Amino acid sequence: MAQPKNPKSPSEWIDDEFPSRLPIIPLVSSVLFPGGVLSLQVGIDRNVRLLKSIPDEQNLIAAFCQKSGDKENPRPEDLSQIGVLAAIVQRLPLSSDRYQIFLQGRHRVEMVQMLQNEPYFIGQLREIAPKPIPKTLKVDNLMNKALSLFEKLVESDSKYSNELLNILKMNMAEGPDTFADLLSSFVNFPLEEKQMLLETVHPIERLESLVDWIQRDLGKATFDKELQRQIQSSIDRRERENYLREQLRVIQDELGEPNAADREADTYRDRVEALPVADDHKQTLRREVNRLSQLSASSSDYSVIKGHLDTIFQIPWGEKTEDRLDLVKAEEILDERHHGLEKVKERVLEFLAVLKLKGDLKGPILCFVGPPGVGKTSLGAAIADALGRKFVRMAVGGVTDESEIRGHRKTYIGAMPGKLIQSYIQVGVNNPLIMIDEIDKIGKDFRGDPASALLEVLDPKQNHAFVDRYVEIPYDLSHTLFIATANMLDTIPSPLRDRMEVIRLSGYTENEKVAIATKHLIPELLENHGLDPDQIKFTDEAILGAIRDYTAESGVRNLERKLATVARKVARKVASGTSEAQYKVDASDLEAYLGLPSYEHEFAERHPEIGVTTGLAWTQYGGEIMFIEATRMNGSGRTTVTGQLGDVMRESVTAAYSYVRSKAADLEIDDKMFAEHDIHIHFPAGAIPKDGPSAGVAIATCIASVMGERPVRHDVAMTGEITLRGKVLSVGGIKEKVMAAQRANIKTVLLPEGNRKDLTEVPDDVKKGLNFFFVERVEDVWKESLIPLYVVRTRDRKYDEAEYRKEHQKTDRERPEVR
Ligand SMILES: Nc1ncnc2c1ncn2[C@@H]1O[C@H](COP(=O)(O)OP(=O)(O)OP(=O)(O)O)[C@@H](O)[C@H]1O
Ligand SMILES: [Mg+2]
Repeated sequence: MAQPKNPKSPSEWIDDEFPSRLPIIPLVSSVLFPGGVLSLQVGIDRNVRLLKSIPDEQNLIAAFCQKSGDKENPRPEDLSQIGVLAAIVQRLPLSSDRYQIFLQGRHRVEMVQMLQNEPYFIGQLREIAPKPIPKTLKVDNLMNKALSLFEKLVESDSKYSNELLNILKMNMAEGPDTFADLLSSFVNFPLEEKQMLLETVHPIERLESLVDWIQRDLGKATFDKELQRQIQSSIDRRERENYLREQLRVIQDELGEPNAADREADTYRDRVEALPVADDHKQTLRREVNRLSQLSASSSDYSVIKGHLDTIFQIPWGEKTEDRLDLVKAEEILDERHHGLEKVKERVLEFLAVLKLKGDLKGPILCFVGPPGVGKTSLGAAIADALGRKFVRMAVGGVTDESEIRGHRKTYIGAMPGKLIQSYIQVGVNNPLIMIDEIDKIGKDFRGDPASALLEVLDPKQNHAFVDRYVEIPYDLSHTLFIATANMLDTIPSPLRDRMEVIRLSGYTENEKVAIATKHLIPELLENHGLDPDQIKFTDEAILGAIRDYTAESGVRNLERKLATVARKVARKVASGTSEAQYKVDASDLEAYLGLPSYEHEFAERHPEIGVTTGLAWTQYGGEIMFIEATRMNGSGRTTVTGQLGDVMRESVTAAYSYVRSKAADLEIDDKMFAEHDIHIHFPAGAIPKDGPSAGVAIATCIASVMGERPVRHDVAMTGEITLRGKVLSVGGIKEKVMAAQRANIKTVLLPEGNRKDLTEVPDDVKKGLNFFFVERVEDVWKESLIPLYVVRTRDRKYDEAEYRKEHQKTDRERPEVR
């Protein structure tokens, strides 16, 4: 396209008849039609330049619709082919670089060639002369039709004013071309459609398009209106219905006929009479039903009373299942569902035997205590099955509000019965086995003590008439078999604890876990994932790998999850058809299914360090190893302890410190070390509260280590309480602690002499890989765990790993398996 070097001034290209060359203003959001008027705000640079360069007396310009491209900087090809020659009928400067102009369309023009792009467009244009159309009947009809359609549009769509209609009517006589253009400029069509109308040069065709599109918009408008009408009428209908219902009631009352509300009240009355409750309680309910029949169904009282009555009817007042007290069968079911747990099962069977002989449940409540995932809840479910009773779990962990157990008074908004009555509603019988889960996690706050509510529930002497605040009618709990579960006993309020008979479930050994996985977890998983037992096979090594590298727990809950992950991934492969006949999951495949191991055997990489001892702790999660850390700094003999310790544990720190200091000479520590240094002892996992005296030996060893600058053997774990005179006293939880030591790959376990007898409880396969030392005094502990002084002092008191290793191996070899 020719680009003149210097832009021409408009006066150079105006010729008189038809200005074939004109400056062009692009229109981005509107289309101007011949005969139409357009008001434009001009603010874009190039358009402002254009306006400024046009002399006032020269008011012709061409307006072309811009179809695409950048608004500020359109290219010639962004403009449409057909535009309109227009007169600038008014221009108002709004500011120095902003105008408001009014354009009046004259007639269509076609772009022949763009002559200039900058600083604004100048095009060479060709006039498209209007077509003279003879006034035939057909044309008349078409125009009338378009007019009447537009009339309807004006009626149905408030965006159009009557003014437009009048202008249109006045211009009917101008002929179809003008008429069509006027109408085109009035209708609210999308920009492209408007441009299409402009490009439709033939007036008849233009009119036909207009008729079609107006009809289309009219359909939409009436649809919207109809929708509006329907919504309104449904609201009206409801009001009318309410009104009619009210009238019906009045009429029925006049005629003495029963109405719907009365009929409902009658069924409620029948149901009240059928309830197996005492008559005075029935009397209360009868009164409620009477009130119900007098209330309007839309009142809030109505729904409160109805909700209460419905709840009462849902409660199983008398429904029972038949007990099956067949001990042989019960034993079978327990064995089938749970591997091992011999003692526990035995105890449960004894309990059932007594139940059978006595014929009532007025004995102690069983409480299963043990770490997570050892099968407490599932054992409860198995017992229910063995007895032929329904099973329901009632979780009380985290409950701090008594009303959660006992219900809210029905005057409260949204009141409900408590968890207990809800459990009965859930099972639908009066004699289920209710498992009170996590009784050790029950809380207490200002809203009353939920434990005291449980106390009443679990008391065989009072629980035949338990009153829920919402239900208000005493309910007999005495046919229910309650079993509680807890992770630890310490936090169970003692009145509750006294009422229960504790059965301990301890953690599983690796071998037991493998057996549980093979016999129970995996078959169940496969079934849940729709897999055939032939399709996937876990080798024992794989299971062991999952236990060792991907879990660190006493129970099997995480193991179950890990195996489920594998099963899920295999199921996906099978389902996507890339199935091999059988998937064998071996230890080497675990990484592909489960990712990198979560628990490395850290001990292999660790080495003896100053100020770190390995203690053995017993928490609600089972046994655990616990690293106790200490550091020393210049100071004046103070001790700081951190890690959320209870009082007992703090006292052990003080006792241990005093004892170590009293033995400074034996340990070859200068007393100045104590006088001139502070010591900080930390018990990691700072967020978990810890207490109890059993870390005494580990703390004393830790202090001796930092003060004497002697590393502690990393593969020795210890537990035991100490006295101020250095004697080691026995502690609890030996079995769990030893199992934790084995899980953590410890080599040597130091136990108080007084706990020697407890070692019989520990399964042989756990004991096998471990050395045990029984200690009577703290000095014995030091002898076994602190790196000997002469080793430490080789090479200028620098500890030498290689040297130590030699010594260490020697002593190990010399040691008897179990002393
Ligand atoms: N001895 C076992 N034999 C077979 N399956 C077992 C055994 N012990 C646990 N399981 C299985 O392990 C899973 C977890 O057990 P469960 O939910 O009963 O643990 P829990 O002791 O109640 O734990 P929590 O204290 O966390 O509630 C269950 O699927 C259960 O069937
Ligand atoms: Mg449980």
